[in-house]
Amino acid sequence: MNITAVPAPAAVRTTEERFRLDARTTVHADATVRDIADRLRQHLSASTGLPLASADGDAGTNVIRLRIDASLNREEYRLSVRGDAVTIVGGAPAGVFHGTQTLRQLLPPATLRRAPLSIRDDDALTIPGCEIVDAPAYRWRGLMLDTVRHFTEVREILRIIDLLALHHMNVLHLHLTDDQGWRLEVRGYPLLTEIGAWRPSTQVGRGEESGTPHGGYYTQDDIREIVAYAAARHITVVPEIESPGHARAALAAYPEFAVAGTAPEGVWTRWGISDDVFSVEEETIDFLCDVLDEVMDLFPSPYIGIGGDECPKTRWRDDPRTQERMRELGLDDEEQLQAWFVGRLEVHVRARGRRIFGWDEILEGGASGGFGAGTAVASWRGEIGARVAVKRGFDVVACPADQVYLDYRQSESDDEPIPTGIPLGWRDVYRFEPTPSGLTTEEADRVLGGQGNLWTEFIDSPQRIDYMLFPRLGALAEVLWTGARRRIDDFERRLPEYTDRLEALGVAYRRETGPRPWERRPGIPGSTRTREELAEHLARITASIADA
Ligand code: ACM
Repeated sequence: MNITAVPAPAAVRTTEERFRLDARTTVHADATVRDIADRLRQHLSASTGLPLASADGDAGTNVIRLRIDASLNREEYRLSVRGDAVTIVGGAPAGVFHGTQTLRQLLPPATLRRAPLSIRDDDALTIPGCEIVDAPAYRWRGLMLDTVRHFTEVREILRIIDLLALHHMNVLHLHLTDDQGWRLEVRGYPLLTEIGAWRPSTQVGRGEESGTPHGGYYTQDDIREIVAYAAARHITVVPEIESPGHARAALAAYPEFAVAGTAPEGVWTRWGISDDVFSVEEETIDFLCDVLDEVMDLFPSPYIGIGGDECPKTRWRDDPRTQERMRELGLDDEEQLQAWFVGRLEVHVRARGRRIFGWDEILEGGASGGFGAGTAVASWRGEIGARVAVKRGFDVVACPADQVYLDYRQSESDDEPIPTGIPLGWRDVYRFEPTPSGLTTEEADRVLGGQGNLWTEFIDSPQRIDYMLFPRLGALAEVLWTGARRRIDDFERRLPEYTDRLEALGVAYRRETGPRPWERRPGIPGSTRTREELAEHLARITASIADA
C-alpha cells in the first residue's frame, strides 16, 4: 500500500492490517487536544456521512485516539493505524494536529470533500495499516501573501490557512502595507484605511492604466478572526508593516510623515518602487511605533515584520533637513540612516518582548542599527543575506527569489498566463535548499526555515492564487518539512494522488499540460528574465552586504 501524503512522513512502515471507518467508529481525545479531535470528526463526518461520535474514557476498539506524549518534540507525532485503532500521539497539540492532517491524506481524496459522495466501494473507507514517525526539518514553514497589490478577502485567507495546515505549514506572513495600498485598520490613524486602502486605478501591462479602482482592508475584527482561525490550525500569522520605503499609501493618508515638500498625490497606481519614503523625524518614528503597538495588540506572533526592503534614498539625499538630521545623528550616509531607522523600530518591538522580521536590506548600513539577537532576516536576494545574517548572529528565513518566488512564471511556454520573473516550476522549487552550504552547525541552526513569497501585481483572484501556489506549494512544504530526506522521484510518484486531493478540495491548481484557464497577461518591461539575468541582478543589488 502506497502512502501518498504531502509532505512525505519521515518514516513509514506499512503493515497488512486495515482500519475501517464505519458507523461504530468513535473518536477519543485527551482534554488538551479535544478541539483537534472535534475538527477531525467534522471533516471526516462531512465527507463520509458517518457519525464518528466523540467517546469518553477508554473507548475500546474501532476508535481513533488522539493524545499527547510530552517525551516527543513539540511538532513531532506518531501515527499508528492498526486493525482495531488509529492512534495519533504528538509532543504537543501542534504535533497531534499534524498527525490528523496526515491521516486525512491516508484516506481517499473524496474524503476531503464537504459532503459525502455515494461511496459503493467497500474498501473506500479503509485506512492502510502503518506506523508513521514524523517531525519537521525546519521550524519556519511559511507562505507570504501580498495583500496590497491585490486585496484578498478574509474568506480566501481562511481557505489558504486550511490549505497550509494540510501541508504542515506553520507561518502565514501577511504583507499588509505598500506603495499601492494600506490594508490594516489602525484605530489611532483612521485615514490609513479611509484614504490609504483605495487606489483609483491599476497599472496593466507596459504602462496602461486600467482605470479600475481597487482597494479593501482588514478591520481589526477581521484580523482577530484570521489570527484565531490560524492559531486553531497551529499557524502563526506574521504581520508586516513596510518602512522606511514602500510607504506611499501611508504618506497619501498622512503627508506630514513624508520628507518635507514631497507629499505624494494619492495612493500609487503603478508597479515598481515608489521614491516616496518616510521622513526620519521623531514624529514619524512615533507614528510607526503607535502603529506597531496596535499591530502587536492584534497579532500574538513573536515576530513582527517591519519591511525594510528597496528603500530608495533620493528623497533623503535631496532634502537639506534629512541631511542635517543625518549629521546630528553622527551617521555617514543614507544606508546608515536606514539602519538607524529600522533600529529605532527594533528597540520598540523588543521592549514588548517581540522580535523584528525584516527583508535582508536591514543588513545594510553596517552595525549602526545595533539590532538585538533574535532579529529574523528574510533572505530574498539569493542566499547572500542568509550567509551574512547568520555570521552576524541573526536568525534567517530563506526565501530566495530564484527559488521560491511563487509569483514567477512556471514555464517558458507562450501560454503561461503571467510572463513574470524566471521560469520556476515545481521541480525548481523542490530543489530549494533553505540552509546555504558550508555553514557551521551553530550558524545552520540559525536558519529557522523558509517561505514562498506570493506577490500579487498580476494575481487578482482566488483562481490565480491557486494556479500560482499549486502544486508548487506542495513541493515547498516537502522541502521545509522533510529537508535533506526528500526525494524528487518519490514526490513525482505521489503527484497524481496529490492533485486528486487538490481537486477534491476545489483548488484550481496548475495542470502540467492542457488548456490554460485564463488569458496571458501582458508583462511589464524588465519583469521577464532568464535565470542568468536574475542572478546578475541580485548580485548587483546585494554588493554592499556581500562586502560587509
Ligand atoms: C522583495 O521582493 N522586495 C522583498
